[in-house]
Amino acid sequence: MLTMQEIKNHYYFSDTDAEMLKELFPLAQTNSEAMVEEFYTYLLKIPETAVFLRDPKDLARLKRTHTEWFLSLFCGRYDNEYMLTLQSIGQAHVRIKVSAHYVNAAMNVVRRFLIEMLQANFPDISVRRKYRIAVEKILDINLDIMSTSYQEEELRKVFVSH
Ligand code: HEM
Repeated sequence: MLTMQEIKNHYYFSDTDAEMLKELFPLAQTNSEAMVEEFYTYLLKIPETAVFLRDPKDLARLKRTHTEWFLSLFCGRYDNEYMLTLQSIGQAHVRIKVSAHYVNAAMNVVRRFLIEMLQANFPDISVRRKYRIAVEKILDINLDIMSTSYQEEELRKVFVSH
């Protein structure tokens, strides 16, 4: 199993990237409500994902959960504990049987939202580029770690069926 340091090395994720993300925290916080609204508008439009969001009580709780995850992208500390949390987030989706396809597609919604947020707030292209690169790396790392849970589940099924 890879360590978080190895994963970061594979994505060329540096301490500078971590600092850039931390700098974005206040902006992300200001935009978190809009992000989560966009995320849920998207999920509620697709019947296969809307089915997981039927109960309004659950919906309010889930919105908080997804907001917390969004803000954790900008926590500035990406260690093994961070990796374990992402693994358990991946496992939660495997357990309830959300298809990996929708997790990937939802990540694209977050990516688009963040690229537009940077576009609106950093007119200087060279500054914006540095933030965008850091954002893209952490999103890809998140998806990578969450996807591993799906791959492990596939391997487990193959193993059990033999
Ligand atoms: C739970 C993040 C995509 C539905 C969670 C949790 C997090 C999270 C942090 C809490 C996990 C825990 O309790 O340990 C994400 C991220 C996604 C994503 C980062 C992709 C960018 C989706 C999609 C759906 C979904 C596509 C489909 C509707 C749910 C549900 C739960 C949950 C229903 C509650 C699971 C449970 O009750 O155990 N998600 N999620 N998520 N997510 Fe997502």
